[in-house]
Amino acid sequence: MLKNFFEPKSVVVLGASATPGKVGYDVLKNLIKSNYRGEIFPVNPKASEIQGLRAYPSILDINEDIDLLIYIIPPQFILKTLDDCKKKNIDSIIAISAGFKETGSAGAKIEREMLIKAKEMNIRILGPNCLGLIDTSSRFNATFAPGMPPEGNIAFFSQSGALCIAILDWALGEGIGFSKFISLGNKSDLGEIDFLKYLADDESTKVILGYLEGIEDGRAFMRVAREVSKKKPVIITKSGGTSAGAKAASSHTGSLAGSEKSIKAAFHQAGIIRADTVNDLFNYALAFACQPIPKGSRIAILSNSGGPGIMAADAIEQYKLNLASFSRETQEQLRSSLPTIASIYNPVDIIGDADADRYHKSLELIINDPNVDGVLVILTPTAVIDVQGAAEKVANLSSENGKPVLASFMGKVSVEKGIKVLQRKKVPNYNYPESAIKVFRIMSDYQNWLNAPDASYQTFKVRQKKVGTIFAKARKNNLLKLGEQEAREIISCYGFKVPKSILALTSREAILAAEQIGYPLVMKIVSPDILHKTDVGGVKVDIENAHQVEDAFFEITSKSRQYLTSATILGVSIQEMVAGGKEVILGVSKDPQFGPLIMFGLGGIYVEVLKDVSFRIAPLSVKDADEMIREIHSFPLLKGVRGEQPTDLAALKEYLLRLSQLVTDFPDIVELDINPLIVKAEGEGAFAADARITLEEG
Ligand SMILES: Nc1ncnc2c1ncn2[C@@H]1O[C@H](COP(=O)(O)OP(=O)(O)O)[C@@H](O)[C@H]1O
Ligand SMILES: [Mg+2]
Repeated sequence: MLKNFFEPKSVVVLGASATPGKVGYDVLKNLIKSNYRGEIFPVNPKASEIQGLRAYPSILDINEDIDLLIYIIPPQFILKTLDDCKKKNIDSIIAISAGFKETGSAGAKIEREMLIKAKEMNIRILGPNCLGLIDTSSRFNATFAPGMPPEGNIAFFSQSGALCIAILDWALGEGIGFSKFISLGNKSDLGEIDFLKYLADDESTKVILGYLEGIEDGRAFMRVAREVSKKKPVIITKSGGTSAGAKAASSHTGSLAGSEKSIKAAFHQAGIIRADTVNDLFNYALAFACQPIPKGSRIAILSNSGGPGIMAADAIEQYKLNLASFSRETQEQLRSSLPTIASIYNPVDIIGDADADRYHKSLELIINDPNVDGVLVILTPTAVIDVQGAAEKVANLSSENGKPVLASFMGKVSVEKGIKVLQRKKVPNYNYPESAIKVFRIMSDYQNWLNAPDASYQTFKVRQKKVGTIFAKARKNNLLKLGEQEAREIISCYGFKVPKSILALTSREAILAAEQIGYPLVMKIVSPDILHKTDVGGVKVDIENAHQVEDAFFEITSKSRQYLTSATILGVSIQEMVAGGKEVILGVSKDPQFGPLIMFGLGGIYVEVLKDVSFRIAPLSVKDADEMIREIHSFPLLKGVRGEQPTDLAALKEYLLRLSQLVTDFPDIVELDINPLIVKAEGEGAFAADARITLEEG
């Protein structure tokens, strides 16, 4: 569908120029210079010939069919241009010109009108305010960037034009090949989702890279990315993670959530490889573009020096990979072919006097060992080594084998020529062994993603209608923040067990209720104006007799009054006390782009301090729920330490899935905390001792 953008048979350059230094000059020059095979029609009313090509006064003066228009004239002509495009049957525009929404309200207005009109006319637009686009296989360079990258299998889309230029320059210097290069600009019409879809089926692209500043439709993005990432690696750097959402939060979850957490969760759930820095982006890209993906996580290290080998081994541990242990046969062969003081165990140290042949011989043995999934070859430039020779041998072996080989030729001047050989032969080289090991981690994660079965979802029989009625009633009463009383009713409709609870209006009623509930018990203030009950002295646990009930009743009500004289106090709830068990928190905070973000962590009053929580976007798959529970640092506490009984993880998982169902059914829940959910020992279930829910306004 976007074929005309990448392989147009003919293209109009609206605003082509004969004056060097102008964008219209550079774009035309790039088109001509790149040996583009299609036809180029410069349009400029002031010239009859530009850069050796016949120029036309207007689009309508061209009698041929046109696939694509490159727009390089000021914004105010865009609507007229759309009309002309319609007349000429042009359905694709690359709008390079700036001066649209990035400049303020006047520009934004033109951009809006442009988009509406283009949609009506079925015309697709890249940009505006972008650098343009390059397709190396069709030799099509519609940018004003200096230089064209070599042909290769990496596609790159970027929201920053400046970054595009920097990366092009880097690619030229390093000889890195690209298939497509797309500058998204303002993403008025076409954006990351469109290009992900296109690149997924693009045969010349093996790896998709992206640099994004914002993602507008997070849910659609996840849906598409999840499919594309099963076909080829999608590596994205996302900048500008602000926590605007967290500022206004009134719940524990809200204060711990935020867009950064959503993006992390969304990328993970969609199989997107996240690169934290542009440096990582290219470190990862090179490996995926040039080498096979490791089948497992057992890594071997081959080095001519001890220190770097050990550093790499440490990194293997840090990144939770495995240091491969060689078969007896490999060990014996290494022993007989290496000097006695060499280390034949992983990391293999072929010592300082190693020559290219020794690299060759040992790598051959290691890479063929069935216990090895990938090899890192480290070289420090000793006086004896022929670096280029070693590079040749390493590279030749790497291409023969289905296992990835990464290199870390350390240093600069002495290894430069060797690195060039590696580059040419598609063995990625990293300045430091740790970077290479990190790449192995990323590749191995991706292999796991490819191996993972399709996500399975579980839903439960719930009382959705009833909840709808409660919400409607709350809305009618202008009650958007629901406290424990309403919230526990709602979550019980979704299958949560809650402690028995009776509302008492007087101390006398409290004592009667206590007899029904049984001791020990908990007493809590019930007031729509008090959401954080402990903060005002509104909760008493471990009440053991009628006398204490009476005292607690007065203490709780008077303290709550003191805290807020105007508070409406509905009474005190007398609640069954859940004994034993671990307090966890389940929460939801709605992200503007990605929807409900679910949080899990150890609960109680220290959640915000410990921040030991995990996040996923709803709906949760069964695997998501499992991962969330296991991801927190304190997970061993839930499994039980020092003879403790393990907690009921099955119940916990089920509750996460039930919560996911609730917020999926009711997207107008903007915040929700179940804190604490008290999880008892295995087989004994869990109880939601407190909950609160905030509904969206409007
Ligand atoms: N039914 C209960 N059984 C056992 N402990 C409880 C119960 N209800 C509350 N607690 C304890 O009291 C703490 C505060 O109560 P909670 O209802 O969460 O009030 P809030 O969060 O509004 O301060 C909980 O974190 C928990 O430790
Ligand atoms: Mg609480």
